[in-house]
Amino acid sequence: MTIDQFNFAGKKAFVRVDFNVPLDENFNITDDNRMRAALPTLKKILADGGSIIIGSHLGRPKGPADKFSLKHILKHLSELLGVEVQFANDCMGEEAAVKAAALQPGEVLLLENLRFYAEEEGKPRGLAEDATDEEKAAAKKAVKESQKEFTKKLASYADCYVNDAFGTAHRAHASTALIAKYFDKDNKMFGYLMEKEVKAVDKVLNDIKRPFTAIMGGSKVSSKIEIIENLLSKVDNLIIAGGMTYTFTKAMGGKIGISICEDDKLDLALDLMKKAKEKGVNMVLAVDAKIADAFSNDANTKFCPVDEIPDGWEGLDIGPKTEEIFADVIKNSKTILWNGPTGVFEFENFTHGSRAVGEAIVEATKNGAFSLVGGGDSVACVNKFGLASGVSYVSTGGGALLEAIEGKVLPGIAAINE
Ligand code: 3PG
Repeated sequence: MTIDQFNFAGKKAFVRVDFNVPLDENFNITDDNRMRAALPTLKKILADGGSIIIGSHLGRPKGPADKFSLKHILKHLSELLGVEVQFANDCMGEEAAVKAAALQPGEVLLLENLRFYAEEEGKPRGLAEDATDEEKAAAKKAVKESQKEFTKKLASYADCYVNDAFGTAHRAHASTALIAKYFDKDNKMFGYLMEKEVKAVDKVLNDIKRPFTAIMGGSKVSSKIEIIENLLSKVDNLIIAGGMTYTFTKAMGGKIGISICEDDKLDLALDLMKKAKEKGVNMVLAVDAKIADAFSNDANTKFCPVDEIPDGWEGLDIGPKTEEIFADVIKNSKTILWNGPTGVFEFENFTHGSRAVGEAIVEATKNGAFSLVGGGDSVACVNKFGLASGVSYVSTGGGALLEAIEGKVLPGIAAINE
């Protein structure tokens, strides 16, 4: 069931969102996209005459810690929603229960970080380093047991459950998955954001318009093996970009200087190339690189063939010939997935390749292609270059998007559908 089929008038909704947003040292939010992305769902509930209990995590705390408190986002959330959002200093306990019970239509309560409790993740904390296997097993059993009470308590705050936390949908946690079983099928649903994300993933996995091009960046091929393998049976073109380029180049016998490389993954790189060939996938690799004599924005730079990088130099971005080749493939595509920049885009002098890829995607999108950008740094890239509005969809998911594209069933999605 989708949120549009539900009337929230007089109902209390527990809405799991992913407000895991980056904060600077003064606790200012440096990127509020995930908060903005949840607004349509929150506003629909309020417009219907419902009230909301918001649950989220922030970071990976190992217990209560001011640094990870959701109070830091309270003011901004109130501004975005246009409603004075209340706050419960603890997601469990008296305060949360009393405030949730007293909520009136149109009111919103934000609960403190759910991960202040080990029960949210269902993993034991504080185990001694020398704990025996039995002690570990007992601690695991204990937290799984208390997780039931924790989950039940969260569920007791509301009449219905809405999951709009796509960014956390790959975690089988209390508030993202287990809680769903405390609501019958007519009272649990996805929010608008979740719906949009799932549809976007579907367009690159199932409803593919060809040619389909995936641009995979990132420094390590090892962290992208499963996704690349799954994509090999879907894509027409697979562009390999970013640091993992050099593992491929070295595997083929090229000279890569001191470029980043996973020496134990050379065979894997060759194997992926072989698989691509067998499947008729056009694997597109860089032919030239922008190289630097230090890992620094101010290093000396020059361009050279990607397999002729001199000793003491490292590739930090693609070169102009590669930009042209990549852009050409992208502009001729009808479905595009971009995950990971072409170079060290945090350094201004090595952003050119990523910008060129982003611009080619925008042009293809103008010509009717569907483009999905997601997974951490590529999102930061399109935002940095002001290209976000020119692509079809920018995902709020990092790991969740990657797991979805690997073809995995995400627990947060399965729990609603069960
Ligand atoms: C993310 O930022 O990818 C999500 O909020 C999930 O966070 P996690 O990796 O700590 O579970």
